[in-house]
Parts: sequence; structure tokens; C-alpha cells
Amino acid sequence: MTKEEAKHKIEVLSQQLRDHNYSYYVLSESKISDYDFDMLLEELQKLEEQFPEFAFEDSPTKRVGGTIAKNFETVKHKYRMLSLGNSYSKEDIEDFETRIKKLVENELEYICELKYDGVAIGITYKNGKLVQAVTRGDGVQGDDVTENVKTIRSIPLQLKGNDYPEEFEIRGEIFFPKNVFEGLNKDREDAGEDLYANARNTASGTLKMQDSGAVAQRRLDCYLYFVLGENLPFKTHYQSIEKAGGWGFKVPTEKDNYVKKCKTIDEIFEFINYWDTERNNLNFEIDGIVIKVNNYARQEEIGFTAKSPKWAIAYKFKAEKVSTKLLEITYQVGRTGAITPVANLAPVLLAGTTVKRASLHNADQIEKIDVRVNDTVFVEKGGEIIPKIVGVEAGQRDIFSEPTQYISTCPECQTELIRKEGDAKHYCPNEWGCAPQIKGKMQHFISRKAMNIDGLGEETIDLLFEQNLVENIADLYALTFDQLFELESFKEKKSQNIIDGLISSKQIPFERVLYGVGIRYVGETVAKKLARQFKTIDHIINASFEELIAADEIGDKIAESIIHFFSIESNVELINKLKEHELQFQLSEDQIANATTKLEGLIFVVSGVFSKFSRDELKASIEQNGGKVSSSISKKTSYIVAGENMGPSKLAKAEKLEVAIINEDQFLEMVG
Ligand code: IVH
Repeated sequence: MTKEEAKHKIEVLSQQLRDHNYSYYVLSESKISDYDFDMLLEELQKLEEQFPEFAFEDSPTKRVGGTIAKNFETVKHKYRMLSLGNSYSKEDIEDFETRIKKLVENELEYICELKYDGVAIGITYKNGKLVQAVTRGDGVQGDDVTENVKTIRSIPLQLKGNDYPEEFEIRGEIFFPKNVFEGLNKDREDAGEDLYANARNTASGTLKMQDSGAVAQRRLDCYLYFVLGENLPFKTHYQSIEKAGGWGFKVPTEKDNYVKKCKTIDEIFEFINYWDTERNNLNFEIDGIVIKVNNYARQEEIGFTAKSPKWAIAYKFKAEKVSTKLLEITYQVGRTGAITPVANLAPVLLAGTTVKRASLHNADQIEKIDVRVNDTVFVEKGGEIIPKIVGVEAGQRDIFSEPTQYISTCPECQTELIRKEGDAKHYCPNEWGCAPQIKGKMQHFISRKAMNIDGLGEETIDLLFEQNLVENIADLYALTFDQLFELESFKEKKSQNIIDGLISSKQIPFERVLYGVGIRYVGETVAKKLARQFKTIDHIINASFEELIAADEIGDKIAESIIHFFSIESNVELINKLKEHELQFQLSEDQIANATTKLEGLIFVVSGVFSKFSRDELKASIEQNGGKVSSSISKKTSYIVAGENMGPSKLAKAEKLEVAIINEDQFLEMVG
């Protein structure tokens, strides 16, 4: 293929994929099968690898993420991110109208929209390209989460048409579709992990994840509801939404009744009442309705308070509440040993689903509402998927009922529970002898950032544990092919895959083994620091508290935790067993020979494509020489190592903050 042909093919494929993305994620219509879509994507990916010079900065292949952010840069909002006043009744809405009518003479038209229960985002477009996405933060400044937002497929990277303003910001709400959130929790349940309680908080946490590849897998979605900019080409809010739809954004339409023009409060209330019940059938959470004055000129006359526009108001739905009988209180043990009491209920219909369990949070909560088995309780569903018990119907209590006695021993291993001062929850301290905790440790050990063992997933760990084949991480290395092959549904290939994965994990570098062992507070970065400074596990085991805190970035809390960990005999034995299995417990000769402190104290951002290194090699080299790698440019950045095709937004930011830009040869000189 000639260069010309490749360039053309990349253009055609990129456009086709953009169109399919739009049909699928915005219009919810699929024109081709998932398989055909993946094939097109793969073809584009291959071409882009071969001809990186022709790849678009906003190529559809970038949707898979991959950028790692260590921290998110704080950015000032160009326009403050305001909130809305709340209303809860027809009278509140009437008051809202009375206030407005004092300020304008003309007849008013309102737009009613759904109030999406998600995370607010402001996205800036320049010349039709997505350049920045910032969270609400405190309304004045928020976090730059551009790379993560770019992975959300219903948000266009390149706008359609040509009638969009040169520069504008669009605001909306990022959320988990209900089925996606349920799927996420199902996976966690299968893996024995604690469930996420609340879709909004999980969406917010997801936006702050450091690995945009992981964000891409989470399948967030976004509705847009507000366009801001100078000299915008519309006269009404409704027009702005319609136009934004034409540019490729996901916006509400009259067709699905997600938006309605209203003249009277009765009309507004029809919309409110419709959605108050119908919301249970939506595939996303809404917590109310937003009412906005449609005409921009009227909006301007009405104006703002310090916190919110006076021309708009939110109507909040009441949380649905039902009563039912409490059958039993059971207690769950999480992977950290935390105990959660759960109310098992006589099944009852709440917000469109049958509820059988509700959270009771902790011992204090049980005492506070004095809830007892056999009570008739009130169950409420707010944003949480697990409904809450909010009270007890006093008159219904059995005269012989006794106050609930909180458990004092672990329901899994019968160890006496402890509760540290200031902690809301009880804990089971039997870290190494309590099933959910043991499984949790093994699951951490095999996880991607630790040993990343091919073929071994959380479900397999559960199975191996239940079959008494493994009790700790060292036992994994004693597994034999025959033991695996005998398990139900374990074919030859799967069994061999696990054995091979275990063998090759013996080459995983020391720092990741150290992280995988699971010492409290020793995360990925701390493990790297420890490995580099102490070089062998024995030096760490033998280090005194003073020696530990003398090390770079190791504070009292971490040092105490390390000392405590190795003061437990069984932990040292575990390390010895792992040593016998020949895992890496010291820096490799290469790591020692090449390690320098030449870049100590310097923070680098790597951008673009390099000819002498892969990006990962370059990052490893920075760390080998004592420097730090960050993914976003800030005032703290010392150097940007720029290859070919450095992103224009990074370049602009580097210039603005006056950060030095060097090429790979200059970098080599620094470490040479
Ligand atoms: S308009 C200046 N429309 O709810 C007007 N906000 O509680 C800005 N929200 O800050 C907001 N759905 O984060 C608007 N259809 C909608 C919305 C919506 C959800 C969020 C938004 C806002 C908050 C107010």
C-alpha cells in the first residue's frame, strides 16, 4: 500500500467508524454487527500502527483509552458551574413562576427536561474537536479528566456538520446506564468483591480513575443539557439542544418525551407526574425534572443569584418508601474484614423492583433506629441500589421483642470482632484465617497490576479455595496440572494456561511482587519506592522503623504497617515459601546496574511517538533514573519529552505553562 492509499484508507475508516459510533451510542440504532465494527476498528488500528503520521489525533481507536494519569490537573472553569434551586411541590413551582413574572413582561415558555442523576461535566470544543473536559469541582475550578471523557462513546470527539461555533462549552451529566451498572456489580459479585452501592458515586469515581483504558471498559454514557459560549447562534435553549443533537451529541428529544415545551404549570406537572412513575422504566437514573425558561433574552432579563440561575429550577422526586417485615439480620464480611449488617426482608415492590435485602450500615445505625427482627420497617430507595431501612413502624412491634444484639464474633471464622476508635464498622482481625479475607488477598495477588497471572481470575481463586487446593498465595505455585484438570469445566488448555501463567509470573519484577503480597498501605508506587531503595526483600524485612522512614516517600503509617506485617511469623514464612518457588525478591541485575539518580526530583510528561524507544521503555528509563512520570502537564512538570505527533492541546498547555520541551535525543543526553 502506498502512503497516499494508506492516508486515504485511514480517513475513510475513521469516518465510517465515527458514523457507526454515532448511530449506535447516540441514536441507539446499530447498522452493522459488533463483529463487523470490531473488524473495521482493527483494520484502522493496524494501519495507524504502520502509518502513525496519518492517524487522527481524535481517531476512533483512541476510544479504548490507555493514558495513565497520576493526578488530575485543576482547571478554572471559563464559566462558573452553577447549581439549581430545588423545589418539591406544585406550590414551589408556582412561587418560582411568580418570582419570574415580576421580572419579565412577555409571555413565558418553559422547557422541561429530565434531571439526570450523574456527574456534571463541562466539555470544550474548538473547531469541532473535543479539547478539554472538566468536572464540576467546587464550581469555580474542577479536575481535567479529558482523557477519561474521550472514552465515552456517546460524546463526539469530532463534531458533525459545519455550523458549530468555533469555540464553545457544552455541559451535561455523565452516568452509568442501569444495565451497565448492574453488569459491573454482577462481575464484582461473581468475583467475591464488595458491590458498588451507588451508581452516581461510582460514575464519579470512574471519571477519576487513573487508567483511561479501565474507564473505557466501564461504558459510561452522557446526556448534554446546556451550551455556553460567546455569540451563540440560537435564540432559545430548545434550539441549542436541537442543534447540539445535530452536531452529534446525545440530547433529549420530544419523540421519546425526554423534553417538553410547556406554557402552564399544569403542563409542567403533567410532565412531572408522568416521569415520577415512568422513571422506573428508564435505563438510567433520574432524580427529578429541570424546568428552564426557554428564551435566551428572557433568561438574561431574569438573571442569576450567586449560586444558580433564577430562570431555572429543579423539581426533586420524593424517594419512594414502602413498609415490609424484617425477617432476619445477617452479617457480611468484606475482603478487608469489615462487617456489614444486612436486613433480609419480606419481598416488597419498591421503585419498580422487588426488594429482599436492605443495608443497615453498622451497629450504631441499628441502635439509632432500634430496629429488631419481626419489626415492620420502612424501606427507602434513594440513589443507592441497596435500599436503606429508614425507620420502624412503632405501633406494630411485638410486645416480646428484644433489642437487636450486634454480633461479637465473625460469622465466617468465629474470631472475636474488634472496633477501632473512630471506626463506624466492626472488623474481623483474623486476616489470614477468614475465608473472604484470604480469598481477597489471593485475588489482589493475581490482579493485573500485581502478578497478572494469565488464566487465573477471581472466580478461579474462589473455586480453588473452596476445593481446598489453595489457602495462601504460595499454594498457587504448588498447584499441578492434574489438580486443575480434574476440576469441573477445566479443559486441558485452560489448566495448562494457568500453570504456564504461574511459571511466567516468576519473572515479574520485585516491585510488583512486593505490591502483590498485600502489605497494608504498600500500593504500587510505594512498592516501587521500597524496591528501588532497599533492593531486596531481606533489607526491607530487617529495616528498622527509622531506616524505613528515612526512605523517600515512606511515612510513619507505612513504616508501621511494614514492621507489623513482618512481625507476624506466618508472613515471613509465606515470603520464604515464595522464595523457594523462585519469585523475584530483589531488583534484577539490570535494574541495579542501570539505576541512577540522575533524574531525581524531576517530573516528566511523555507525549507523541518515538523512534528510539517505545513509550513504555521511555517511561521505564525515566523511573530507572530516579525521575517521575506524570500524564498531565502542570506547573510542577519539569520536562515534556516530545516525540512525533505530540497532541496540540498538550503543546498549547506546555507553552502556556512554559514547561521545557525536549526530544528523545536530549533526553538520552540527560541520562547518558
Ligand atoms: S441545567 C445553569 N439540566 O443537576 C443551569 N442540570 O442540581 C445548569 N442536572 O448542576 C444546569 N440534569 O449537574 C441542568 N437537564 C438538566 C440536568 C441538570 C441534571 C444536574 C446538573 C446541575 C444539578 C443541579
